[in-house]
Amino acid sequence: MENFKIAVLAGDGIGPEIMKQALKVLKVIEQKKKASFELKEGLIGGCAIDKFGIPFPEETQQLVLKADAVLLGAVGGPKWDNLEFSIRPERALLGLRKLLQAFANLRPAKLYEPLIEASSLKPEVVSGVDIMVVRELTSGIYFGEPRGIIEEEGERVGINTLKYREHEIKRIAKVAFDTARKRHKRVCSVDKANVLEATVLWREVVTEVHKDYPDIELSHMYVDNAAMQIIRWPKQFDVMVTTNIFGDILSDACAMLTGSLGMLPSASIGGKIGLYEPIHGSAPDIAGQDIANPIATINSVGMMFTHSFNMPEIEVAIDKAVQMVLEQGYRTKDIWEKGKTLVGTEKMGDLIAEALETCL
Ligand code: IPM
Ligand code: MG
Repeated sequence: MENFKIAVLAGDGIGPEIMKQALKVLKVIEQKKKASFELKEGLIGGCAIDKFGIPFPEETQQLVLKADAVLLGAVGGPKWDNLEFSIRPERALLGLRKLLQAFANLRPAKLYEPLIEASSLKPEVVSGVDIMVVRELTSGIYFGEPRGIIEEEGERVGINTLKYREHEIKRIAKVAFDTARKRHKRVCSVDKANVLEATVLWREVVTEVHKDYPDIELSHMYVDNAAMQIIRWPKQFDVMVTTNIFGDILSDACAMLTGSLGMLPSASIGGKIGLYEPIHGSAPDIAGQDIANPIATINSVGMMFTHSFNMPEIEVAIDKAVQMVLEQGYRTKDIWEKGKTLVGTEKMGDLIAEALETCL
């Protein structure tokens, strides 16, 4: 039985309570003797600021670099919103992604059929939705220089830079095409090539990389149109590959197709160590109330098994366990509807862990 070192960074807000549920799932996997784990907890975000004065302390950096994979809850909250920009909790997340060179962020938006009524869109529009957003994660406008707020001609000027190097586009395009190969063999690359030169290059390079993937169908779409098409007819998409900021925005839109932001997991890969986190934030408004949905975090554990531990069968089992619990009618508040059984975060975690025992 293989042993994996996992850095567990629960973070802030609902982070600790959803993380607790993910750990229940790991426990079942261990009890079933599929793998064993060495869990190392570290501080990141607001909780790290409270203890060390900075959001991503050296101690945590060392911890993640020694791990086989990193599991993260969420960071941030109103308590730290007024801090100087460079030490805000969100900076830790960007620092972590960069440190791990996790340039490819996979965000699967797949509808669980029992949740068809939970989506704000019509059932015939969302039924069967299965989109993989491949978001570039360590470059683009999130990281480009120059940046900042400066004084110019007697007024303040805010600056960010959208910049992509050829190799950065090449490697994310490859991930997108390789991902499509294991799915429905279609990639839609999203850019704003009618306005932004950086994405003119994006479109060119993606088209060049495509020459090595004749079996994959490639299309291009402007981001404004893509946002509209996601709402209009999401089933047209298989893999969508896009820049850091467009991926941030479009993946939230895709999440709502599945009923709730609380459903979407993510894997950030490309470096030696993978990073796994729900795409939702720390939701400070509902923290500590036992109402957060732990499914995105639990499914992020699933992705960890496929992408870091080469055990895709565990992801399949976790997915099946979630499906079972939803079929039995259990719902957290965000996905609840009339006639279903409302459960809290803890109970949802217990139910999925129990179901997993029968799926492994
Ligand atoms: C996400 C989040 C982060 C991002 C924030 C919290 C920095 O919105 O993971 O989508 O913009 O990448
Ligand atoms: Mg986001």
